[in-house]
Amino acid sequence: MMGIVIQQLVKFIGTKGKDRQEKILEKSGWKDKEIKIEESYPETEFQKLLITTTEVLGIDAVAAQIGFAEYVFPVLKNEFPGYFQTAKDVKTFLRRIPRVHLDLPSIMGGSATTTEKLKVINEEPLTFYYKSSNKLCSFMKRLIELSAENYEQKVTIEEPKCMLRGDDHCEVIVKIK
Ligand code: HEM
Repeated sequence: MMGIVIQQLVKFIGTKGKDRQEKILEKSGWKDKEIKIEESYPETEFQKLLITTTEVLGIDAVAAQIGFAEYVFPVLKNEFPGYFQTAKDVKTFLRRIPRVHLDLPSIMGGSATTTEKLKVINEEPLTFYYKSSNKLCSFMKRLIELSAENYEQKVTIEEPKCMLRGDDHCEVIVKIK
């Protein structure tokens, strides 16, 4: 996972109180570690941070992912306005997301880990394939909803296949109303 995401996760945790942030960083082994935005960190270390967050905050993984998505979406809009402004609607925006994930790390001087994890496998209805040991499909679905809201559009999301239900990968179908 790229450092930019880990840095944002640490900031999100900070919104839950400095004491709890300290505790989470300490327990997960991230205390005093320098986080470089362009660097790729081992997925297991990212997962340790996320799991410790759920434990210390007393919330489940889904709630943590949704909370993080809601925190990070405005940051993405602010930091990367071009990706939003150059797409005329939510479908155009979402269509480009795998490409964005592919390009960003090299733009930032790092290397991608998401590349093979997130793909568009069908155009109509728009369907994402997602496979990652991070199992961030709840994060992903909330980002999709927020993207639709950004364009004042409405979507329904179905996930007929999900790693959390034992499937090999997730399939996220986005129907734009
Ligand atoms: C302009 C908007 C966005 C930017 C700049 C962005 C950037 C990033 C970056 C840098 C990562 C870490 C990549 C890595 O470590 O390989 C990431 C991860 C991720 N992004 Fe985005 N993202 C954006 C929008 C979205 C949207 C709309 C979705 C929903 C489809 C999404 C889904 C994900 C998922 C699921 C991951 C985690 C992948 C994993 O490691 O399991 N992102 N994003």
